[in-house]
Amino acid sequence: MSEPYIPPRRGSVNEPIRIAVLISGSGSGLSALLNHQQSKPCVHITKLIISDNKDARGLHYGEDFKIPSLTIPLPESVDRNKQRIMHENLIDNALLDSEIELVVLSGYMRILTSNFVSKWKGRIINIHPSLLPKYPGAHAHRDALADGAKITGCTVHLVDEGVDTGQIIAQEEVAILEGDTIEKLQDRVKKVEHRLYPKVLDIFCSQGI
Ligand code: GAR
Repeated sequence: MSEPYIPPRRGSVNEPIRIAVLISGSGSGLSALLNHQQSKPCVHITKLIISDNKDARGLHYGEDFKIPSLTIPLPESVDRNKQRIMHENLIDNALLDSEIELVVLSGYMRILTSNFVSKWKGRIINIHPSLLPKYPGAHAHRDALADGAKITGCTVHLVDEGVDTGQIIAQEEVAILEGDTIEKLQDRVKKVEHRLYPKVLDIFCSQGI
C-alpha cells in the first residue's frame, strides 16, 4: 500500500520553509526560484542545492547566491538497486544535516526510489515539462512533438512512488507552433515554468495544497 502525503508545516515570512533544490543540468529553474525568493519577503528559503552531476551548469548559482551546494554523484556499485539506495541515503543525510523541510526537484533527472519517497512523501515537489499525465519521463518535448500535439505545457506535482504520477498541484498550457523543435518548445515551456513554480511554492508553503 502506498504511503499518504504528509505536507510540511505552514511557512511564514518570519519562519520560511527550508528548501533544498535538486538539479542535474543548467539550473534555469533554480535561478528563477532564487531570484523570486530574493525579490520580496518569502515564505520559503533555499538552504541547500544538490546536483547529482558535477558538471551541472546550474551549480554556479549556489556561489552567486552564497547558498551551500553539493555534488552527490552516484556511488560506485555493481548492483544498480544498491547504488540508487546508497546515493539517496547520501542525499537524505545532507537534507537532514541542513534541516531541510521541502525537497524541490528542478530539472533533477533521476527517478527517486520508493525507499526515499516514503521518507519524504508530501515534502517532495517536482516540475515536469508537459501536461501530465501526457508525456511523463525524460523526453516530454520529443514525445509531444512526435505525437503531433498542438498543446503541451508544464505541471507542478507532488512526487509519489511512480514516474511523474503524483498528485497534480498546478498546470499551465503552452501552444505548440508550426516549425517547433525540441529546443524552441523547451525554451517557451521553461519561461512559463519560471513563473509558475515559484508562485505554486508560495501557495504550497503557506497554505498547503
Ligand atoms: C525543465 O524544463 C524541467 O521541467 C525539466 O527539465 C528542465 C530543467 O531545466 N524536468 C524534467 O524533464 C524532469 N523529468 P533547467 O535545468 O534549466 O532548470
